[in-house]
Amino acid sequence: MTKKIEAIFREEKLNTVKEALYEIGIIGMNVTEVRGHGRQGGIELAGRIGTYKVDLLPRVQLNIILSDNNVEKTIETIQQAAQTGSIGDGLIFVYPVEEVIRIRTGERGHAAITYEGDIDTREEALVQATD
Ligand SMILES: Nc1ncnc2c1ncn2[C@@H]1O[C@H](COP(=O)(O)OP(=O)(O)OP(=O)(O)O)[C@@H](O)[C@H]1O
Ligand SMILES: [Mg+2]
Repeated sequence: MTKKIEAIFREEKLNTVKEALYEIGIIGMNVTEVRGHGRQGGIELAGRIGTYKVDLLPRVQLNIILSDNNVEKTIETIQQAAQTGSIGDGLIFVYPVEEVIRIRTGERGHAAITYEGDIDTREEALVQATD
């Protein structure tokens, strides 16, 4: 089964998160800039003319399509790398993915999201998979 991880976190954590993901062999990903808020509904800022509310704060959204068996490790990696401990650190969502098609070759499913040297093609991953 294929899953999509959508992680929304602080912009300044993007490099740390990306490096931690490369480290575990996650290669394919895409990133967009988003603005949003969670349960606090934004932040109050104190200015010279009083306080005002900024309700949509900038964050990055990182999307990764990957195999089921890599989801937990990836979530753990993102959570550790993106965490500051303060409110507003973000959220991680996991969705089922119906199908993946590599346009160049027509490969589908797992083959379409497997890359040379990635988490699935590393020796240790192969050993675990055959356990
Ligand atoms: N329910 C939601 N659906 C979609 N995006 C969300 C949702 N909640 C938060 N977000 C996105 O995640 C970002 C970070 O949310 P945030 O970390 O403030 O979540 P929280 O649940 O309020 O947690 P915390 O208490 O740590 O602040 C938001 O700026 C927004 O972009
Ligand atoms: Mg919040």
